[in-house]
Amino acid sequence: MQVVASTSPALELNADAIVIGIWKDEPLSGAAKAVDEAADGLITRMVELEELSSSTCSVSVLLGVAGVAAPVVAVVGLGAREGAHKSLSFRAAGAAAKTLASKKRKSIAYFIDVEDRVQAICGSMIGCQGQDIMRKELKLNPFDEVLWDGASESEIAQGVALGESVNLIRRMVNLPANEVFPESFAEQCQSSGKASGFDVEVWDEHKLTDEKCGALLAVAQGSARPPRVVIMRYNGAGNDSAPIALVGKGVTFDSGGLSLKPSAGMLDMKCDMAGAATVLGAVNAIALLGLPVNVVGLCGLAENMISSNCYRLGDVLVARNGKTIEVHNTDAEGRLVLADTLNVAEEMEPRGIVDLATLTGACLVALGVEYTGAMTNDQDWCNQLKTAAESCGELVWQLPMDEFFDDKIKSKIADIKNVGEGRWAGAITAGKFLQEFVDHTPWVHLDIAGPSFADAPSKWIDAGASGCMLFTLVELAKRG
Ligand code: BES
Ligand code: MN
Ligand code: ZN
Repeated sequence: MQVVASTSPALELNADAIVIGIWKDEPLSGAAKAVDEAADGLITRMVELEELSSSTCSVSVLLGVAGVAAPVVAVVGLGAREGAHKSLSFRAAGAAAKTLASKKRKSIAYFIDVEDRVQAICGSMIGCQGQDIMRKELKLNPFDEVLWDGASESEIAQGVALGESVNLIRRMVNLPANEVFPESFAEQCQSSGKASGFDVEVWDEHKLTDEKCGALLAVAQGSARPPRVVIMRYNGAGNDSAPIALVGKGVTFDSGGLSLKPSAGMLDMKCDMAGAATVLGAVNAIALLGLPVNVVGLCGLAENMISSNCYRLGDVLVARNGKTIEVHNTDAEGRLVLADTLNVAEEMEPRGIVDLATLTGACLVALGVEYTGAMTNDQDWCNQLKTAAESCGELVWQLPMDEFFDDKIKSKIADIKNVGEGRWAGAITAGKFLQEFVDHTPWVHLDIAGPSFADAPSKWIDAGASGCMLFTLVELAKRG
């Protein structure tokens, strides 16, 4: 998909469709006004008769509008200007793209006056991309070309960098586990690194054995697909400045292992590498944007399967940092993969770590599908992340990490066990487990089990992978 700036007037532009926007309870302005005047007050009358909605992200499609060269005019409601959502630009552009992508169209052109054009460009690229990437006849058809009225080159470059990176995350998560497994995920990291300009190092199963990554290897040992750890480095700030480390859970399929998931709970478990995909997307975006910051991204990649060689309940694992872990539930595998990956990350002496993981169903129970759960060992670092999230309209809610939770993961025979006491505070006891593998570095754990993968579509994005937290991570990197 090509995204280009355009300076042609809305009425004259030769695209398959143009997009105009209308605010609630406001006179028409810009291109909407021009179209209205050319068509003898059509838009005004339709709004009056409530045949055209100005409510947020509703999209109406008009055909053959008099005085407009393009055969289709899509009118997107922008809602009330006052109190508009931080992500309105993204969502409105996404909603128009999603509606227009229901048919094959070569080119569409946006003439909407939104606050954040970078976000909007990004939305136009994401809205037209569906989750049904392996279907012959797509339900959503990405456009060949998207034109943006009055956009600057820099706005386009930024919007495209973010849009491509979110779509990369979504693609990796939406692809099934027979396509995306540790090796193929690592290969994608290598090709993205070449294309976008960052270095990629891959640790295979032999290296992981040499590196004593006993927790990650235990999860992987039941699968015919060998594990990987991918280390991606982008140095935008020279060699002296300590990097930010991003760490992702990359369980390419989570069957639960011997603590087998029921079928309904297993169906979507291709999504269990969303944390790792987000780390890849974030490093990719930061490199494309050329931000003056050093970032290291680490993905812990393994498949959690069943075989005569899989890890068992009661096994005691020795993690890379030397701590011993008693396995009480093989479905609590993400924290084992992250334990060793976090330890590798800390060795690189980053100034802060953020990990992302589809870690617990408990986080979904606590916070629902919109909020990411945050846990930390350093309130300043967590505040920086929360401020970044807030500035891009992404929802993060911090959970407590009091010391008394530490007792809940004590084991009778090893240093710790991989689950808490019963089901209570499951998101927090998982966070507490991870904290055992971060020694002294400021760290935030983000549980994205809720927002990373949606059962139902919204007006501006298809169901399936969302690419959530990409904007937040880029914003965090921008703020240095
Ligand atoms: N990958 C799951 C968590 C998950 C659940 C992500 C639903 C997305 C949607 C994780 O590995 C898991 O199975 N967690 C267990 C932990 C339990 C065994 C302590 C859970 O949440 O039930
Ligand atoms: Mn699991
Ligand atoms: Zn999992």
